[in-house]
Amino acid sequence: MSSSKIIKLGFVGFGTVGQSTFIALQRNLCQIKKQIGCELEVVSVAVNDLEKKRDVNLGGVTLTNDPFEVVLDPNVDIVVELIGGTEIARELVSVAIANGKHVVTANKALIAIFGDEILLSAQNEKTLIRFEAAVAGSIPIVKALSESVRGNRIKAVVGIINGTCNFVLSEMATKHVSFASILGEAQRLGYAEADPSFDVMGTDAGHKLAILSAIAFGTKFQFDKIHVEGIQDILLEDIAYAKELGYQVKHLAIAVKTPGGLELRVHPALIPLDHILASVDGVVNGILVDGDLSGPLMLSGAGAGGDATASAVISDIIDVASAIYTGGIKARALRPEKLLDYPITSFTESVSGYYVRVEAKDKPGVLAEISRVLASFNVSIEAIQQKEARDVASAKVPIVILTGRMTERAIREVCEILASSDSIIGGVICYKVEDFQWAN
Ligand SMILES: NC(=O)c1ccc[n+]([C@@H]2O[C@H](COP(=O)([O-])OP(=O)(O)OC[C@H]3O[C@@H](n4cnc5c(N)ncnc54)[C@H](OP(=O)(O)O)[C@@H]3O)[C@@H](O)[C@H]2O)c1
Repeated sequence: MSSSKIIKLGFVGFGTVGQSTFIALQRNLCQIKKQIGCELEVVSVAVNDLEKKRDVNLGGVTLTNDPFEVVLDPNVDIVVELIGGTEIARELVSVAIANGKHVVTANKALIAIFGDEILLSAQNEKTLIRFEAAVAGSIPIVKALSESVRGNRIKAVVGIINGTCNFVLSEMATKHVSFASILGEAQRLGYAEADPSFDVMGTDAGHKLAILSAIAFGTKFQFDKIHVEGIQDILLEDIAYAKELGYQVKHLAIAVKTPGGLELRVHPALIPLDHILASVDGVVNGILVDGDLSGPLMLSGAGAGGDATASAVISDIIDVASAIYTGGIKARALRPEKLLDYPITSFTESVSGYYVRVEAKDKPGVLAEISRVLASFNVSIEAIQQKEARDVASAKVPIVILTGRMTERAIREVCEILASSDSIIGGVICYKVEDFQWAN
């Protein structure tokens, strides 16, 4: 260990997160040096467009539009991958590792889809790969799961881990404005991307859940087996009816260990208004971890944004730099050669209560008919309410039902039967009601 050692960083990608990380590193360099004992220096940065105007003064740092220059640079100890996506980023990370570089990345898609391959090659090359910023921005959930609750048997991890979805649902609930107008506002405020489909259709939360579940349960990264639904079809009236019944509609990412395997699902759900996750509003993220020893733990904070994500990236850089400086490559709970091929249960077998809404003809006997259908599946009715017709001329009335616990397979059959009834007009709206009861 030499006190004069300088650990050198190469950035590939210098957008929102890259620039915030660079600025914060410069600002906190003295404090970081005290923490690690050695200096950190950014020596090269790769971008796509060299002509683009940047607010950051790079000083003597080499700027290139060839990211392979950075990952192959013999001076670089740690490659900080902040390009995103899975194509060039995958190649860059694998070349970096093959050349003995340590890697810090914020790239959730890359880890969710190619995590097994990347972790294994890092282990084979005895380099470190860190990805705290890939899940929930500033929230130290990767570290918490892989270090702080290691002795626990994790029962479940439930998160609100997409800020765009949470912002849209929170604003719909408080401002009573439609999905489309709130999404437009979120884009104007910079909370949603120009193309928000990745966020609102649930893919982003699915990527993060793949990472959380692999760490929590020591399984392979299994993004392709996650059931993913978004929030694009949620209507204002369902948010309002849910609230009248004592529930909030949230977009949840859920990993639960059951006797039959792992349940991995991302979808909107009703949660009780007094549940701790119901108070996670706006762009904030919140993650509940339930361990057999710890009991429920809740972490919440800024899930995205330059500074919040830089906080996680810098924490990983410090971890890796400390390991390089002290010569100790620290083992983590996640050992790629030991990751389990744990079975993933089918979404149709997941059990919960359900919120069901139908538009029914305004005639006697409809409530009794719905009750008969549910009774034929041995399912209880927790609540059934006939709401005021929104359009008096249409002669149809909304009926809202909360069911007892049943499988997704059974509720789909119920919905099909109801949709084919002469008393029901149009389709059937149905969402899970999450009661946070794990069968494990
Ligand atoms: N933004 C957030 O709040 C947030 C939160 C958590 C995680 N993340 C993750 O962090 C990563 C970066 O996100 P970001 O928001 O910072 O993205 P961004 O603002 O779009 O920045 C991407 C950067 O990559 C550069 N780039 C793209 N293709 C390149 C290429 N072929 N060669 C060299 N450079 C290239 C771009 O160059 P130019 O500058 O020349 O265009 C830009 O500097 C992503 O994986 C994202 O999922 C972001």
